[in-house]
Amino acid sequence: MYNKLKKIKTAIFISGRGSNMESLIRASSSKKFPAIIVLVITDNELAPGIQLAKNYKIATKILDKKKFNKSQFETESQKALLSYKIEIICLAGFMKILSKEFISLWQNKIINIHPSYLPKNKGLNPQKQVLDEKSSFTGCTVHFVNEKVDGGKIILQKKIKILQNDDVQTLSNRILQKEHKIYPKALNQIASSMTRLKN
Ligand code: GRF
Repeated sequence: MYNKLKKIKTAIFISGRGSNMESLIRASSSKKFPAIIVLVITDNELAPGIQLAKNYKIATKILDKKKFNKSQFETESQKALLSYKIEIICLAGFMKILSKEFISLWQNKIINIHPSYLPKNKGLNPQKQVLDEKSSFTGCTVHFVNEKVDGGKIILQKKIKILQNDDVQTLSNRILQKEHKIYPKALNQIASSMTRLKN
């Protein structure tokens, strides 16, 4: 349906494990998927996701936080994104908060996944937040990135029931399984609309 040339060139920013990155790479390897992952950028040279990306023969760029401050990270990332002709950026476990300036260069082109049912439980450790609040449900959300942390327009989200004996680990694992399903779906949706505009 989409030939390789028409697929939306996508970069993924990671800081750690990279399991969401892998779910996007796997989904995008299907012929019918409208996006292709061509670049992975990280601010953590120890991120296990780097090797994972290399296993899939995806180009990686390491801009370690100890050597590059935020502004240098963004400048170097921007160069790489332009040279790979990237059209969309997926944040997947990326721990830096991007600057307003960088976000405005990529208006409506950066998406993120967050392990809560936004707008509830923004920020760090949302799984602990929901357990502390004794909520009955949580979820995961893919959203556009704007200058408000976890505050951009929601693209797709999924509710997840909290079980009586859930702890942070069991709950995080269940949320993660759903993340791996909704992130590729959301990217598919966004990239499809971009492909339609291009054609
Ligand atoms: C995921 O729970 C994601 O929602 C959050 O950080 C975690 C990253 O996991 N932003 P992974 O690196 O994708 O395995």
